[in-house]
Amino acid sequence: QPEHDFLDDVNIELDQTSIDAQHVRSAARQLQTSNVPVAFPTETVYGLGADATRGEAVRGIYKAKQRPADNPLIVHVASLQQLRAMLQPPETGGSDHAADTTTTDDPIPSIYKAVIEKFWPGPLTILLPNPKNSLLAPEVTAGLSTFGARMPRHALALALIKLADRPIAAPSANASTKPSPTAAEHVAFDLDGRIETILDGGPCDVGVESTVVDGLSSPPLILRPGGVSLEQLRQCPGWENTEIGYKDTSEKDSRPRAPGMKYRHYSPKATVVLFEAGTALPTFTDIHNQAGSSGRIGIVRTKTWQIQHHEVSCDNDKVGIEDMELGADTTDIARGIFSALRDLDRKEVDAIFVEGIDEHEGDVAAAVMNRLRKAAEIRIGD
Ligand code: TXA
Ligand code: MG
Repeated sequence: QPEHDFLDDVNIELDQTSIDAQHVRSAARQLQTSNVPVAFPTETVYGLGADATRGEAVRGIYKAKQRPADNPLIVHVASLQQLRAMLQPPETGGSDHAADTTTTDDPIPSIYKAVIEKFWPGPLTILLPNPKNSLLAPEVTAGLSTFGARMPRHALALALIKLADRPIAAPSANASTKPSPTAAEHVAFDLDGRIETILDGGPCDVGVESTVVDGLSSPPLILRPGGVSLEQLRQCPGWENTEIGYKDTSEKDSRPRAPGMKYRHYSPKATVVLFEAGTALPTFTDIHNQAGSSGRIGIVRTKTWQIQHHEVSCDNDKVGIEDMELGADTTDIARGIFSALRDLDRKEVDAIFVEGIDEHEGDVAAAVMNRLRKAAEIRIGD
């Protein structure tokens, strides 16, 4: 008997008479019957979900987000039972013998045992072989021979998936190319008129997406940094030699392994100017040079710029400065970064100057810098 069955008992108790329970139930019904995707909170970012077994429903996601069709989606599950069903779909007209093997062999590759036990439910996506007679609609995998799966830890997400009783394909619920949504308002801003339902679970706890890992390759690779760090993964048996399989640099990566990593990403309308950690506060000449027609600049301060304020005697009537402080704590910076970019965009600044952080300082720091490097048109101190 597989040992990690404890996860099949993730216990979700909804007060059945509450308004929340009614909303989750009706969202779950929509997932089962409609081709319009449903937005829901996860601990990382909001997701835009559809029944992963119905092609029409999955196409609804690509349509609402305007997402390129060659970028595969992550499948969300609420139990290992659901995951096993995808790895070992029931044989059509299968013999008793086939039924026997399903009870003895765990179809989940053994390399994943340790990381599932340690990080699920949570911000880790694992790549798995997609079987020939897959239950998944082909639109989910965009033609790849693998699919990504994760079990989110947000109670509303788990309840929704459990009630829908389907594996749920879900990318981040932003319009393609925009910063990922970490609050229900962000989803509404991007997708208003394109979707009918957003479950509001408040602001997301982690604030950056899940870590995508390929444990089928040797050594295991991180394809996208996220809520679980390289160091955390390396503590798991079989994962000691995990390597970084993504590129952060602005140079064109010839063949990105996670297809989504090649697109323009996480970008507000304003030009993002990223100052790598340790770069001095921009001078007023820098600021003037970037201020365009609106004459307005946004500044996102993190670890050190917050205590190095500009002199007030600057040319404030020529350049307006909108300041956002995320504080010095890496966890808070991850939680607030996408929202800060969105807030500054709504203030119609021409450029956003962001103080980068040391990517080794804290578990989510590599993910934060990865997103900022992708969002940035100009990088200073790299
Ligand atoms: O935290 C998250 O992962 C969020 C929440 C909603 O769960 N979802 C999310 O999905 O970030 P999305 O679609 O925005 O990003 C999925 C990433 C993309 O970079 C995609 O290329 C990669 O995962 N991916 C998915 N399936 C893959 C596969 N079979 N092989 C390689 N990369 C894959
Ligand atoms: Mg995304």
